Amino acid sequence: MNAPTRNIAHSADAKTVEEGLAAQNFDGPVDSTAATEVAMQNTLLTPRFYTTDFDEMDAIDVSPVRADWDELIGRMKSDPNKGHFKKNEDWDHIDWEGMEPKLRAEFIDFLISSCTAEFSGCVLYKEMKRRGSNEDIVTLFQLMARDEARHAGFINDALREAGIAVNLGFLTQAKKYTYFRPKFIYYATYLSEKIGYARYITIYRHLEANPDKRFHPIFKWFKEWCNDEFSHGEAFALLMKSDPKLTSGVNKLWIKFFLTAVFSTMWVRDHQRPAFHEALGVDPAWYGQEVFRKTSEISRQVFPLTLDIDHPRWVPGLDRLDRANRQIAAAKKRGGVGGKLSQWAGSAKAGAAFLSLLLIPSVPCEVPVSPRMEPAY
Ligand SMILES: [Fe+2]
Ligand SMILES: [Fe+2]
Repeated sequence: MNAPTRNIAHSADAKTVEEGLAAQNFDGPVDSTAATEVAMQNTLLTPRFYTTDFDEMDAIDVSPVRADWDELIGRMKSDPNKGHFKKNEDWDHIDWEGMEPKLRAEFIDFLISSCTAEFSGCVLYKEMKRRGSNEDIVTLFQLMARDEARHAGFINDALREAGIAVNLGFLTQAKKYTYFRPKFIYYATYLSEKIGYARYITIYRHLEANPDKRFHPIFKWFKEWCNDEFSHGEAFALLMKSDPKLTSGVNKLWIKFFLTAVFSTMWVRDHQRPAFHEALGVDPAWYGQEVFRKTSEISRQVFPLTLDIDHPRWVPGLDRLDRANRQIAAAKKRGGVGGKLSQWAGSAKAGAAFLSLLLIPSVPCEVPVSPRMEPAY
């Protein structure tokens, strides 16, 4: 199953994750300590690295969803995006020096956190592939790890132009890994793939209509990119579908918890990048709701409930959470006893805001027999 690792020129052309990570665009002289430090951060808002019970995951039996499974794997194997994730003649020159400093800082932060998130997926999927013996599971995770290595490699190329590179090898060694039971990995990863799709396609369509706002060429690649994420999400939908217990009973509460946590994290994180969204001509509140709407529409394929994002307490609750987070960040910066107290008060406010979001009644929905979906936005 493991193809021999050759040092190919670019991760975009890799057939396997090993080949992708050994590609020449991952080595090179640039090593930015500051960027790696940002990627090393573990807060509630920064992308994490995950580990799980790999044996339990390896024991999954996909026979209840065999037909859909084989079709999806066949499509991923046919690899329509091979060679896509690298610069070509559509890649416009970027004047990093001339970029407005606040925008530059926020955009670099966006690229670093996206690269870390892609790489976090790559590491988890690669580990699953390495530890597994179940042919279906090993094949799926190899294919997904291949894609994520390409995505991370491409963002790294964009960062390199700005004189920055995240040291991915170091991250793998040094970053703290968060343990999640397999079912939590399914909920969290399914949602992060689908919300990733919704985020990328919303930006892509917006810039299609407003090309003057496209301040960096990487956005031109978002369509194929989000189709990869869509397929990854499909795979997790099928995994959850293979065991009905995962989406019924007490697990409905877990699903609601993960939906609320993933949506509110996105809201708070995006509101930290006002200059970035202004340059794109996107109001972060509109963008957030638009992405939540698409993600909710998609997640009905497998989740028996959606969040009521039109509830009168929803947006005000997210704003309260955002304000509490700003208070915590400011208090941390201030330090001292006053800072500590304000940090605690902020955390209590954030907890109360999150709880009030969690207590908004959810909307039950009918789940279709087959979850298979096409990217439609
Ligand atoms: Fe990705
Ligand atoms: Fe993905």
